[in-house]
Amino acid sequence: MIKVAVIHGPNLGLLGKREPDVYGAITLDGLNQRLLQTAKELGLELRITQSDHEGEVVRTIHDCMGWAQAIVINPAALTHYSIAVLDALLAVRIPAIEVHLTNIFAREEFRRISVTAPATQGQIIGLGAEGYLLALRAAKAIVEQLHI
Ligand code: DQA
Repeated sequence: MIKVAVIHGPNLGLLGKREPDVYGAITLDGLNQRLLQTAKELGLELRITQSDHEGEVVRTIHDCMGWAQAIVINPAALTHYSIAVLDALLAVRIPAIEVHLTNIFAREEFRRISVTAPATQGQIIGLGAEGYLLALRAAKAIVEQLHI
């Protein structure tokens, strides 16, 4: 089984309650259920975490070493300023896919910058929960292509 770490950043625990007009009605639990269902179909083993703390997100990325073959991460607000998350992704050298529920390029100016994107294989943005499911498919394809 291909092992994939799914990392949700700050405030994503409030999905469903948080600005539903922007982020949709799906809760984090609902999203995680969909992820687990898709993972089952694809033959992936998932480790899913959410944290509101930058240091914990960094530690979670470190903990992927020796376990995860790919990372699917929505760094949420950390995307826009966290050099620590960027460095952690660079340090572990595990292929990562960055996901955003919303189209960060169609929102406020400060959201148009992702400092973490350069450490990732690619990004899937603006497709809501569907984007995460596509990211799992991409993670599987990348691992199979790279034979890791
Ligand atoms: C987000 C976009 C970020 O700008 C924001 O801070 C989030 C969620 C998204 O998934 O669209 O918390 O990453």
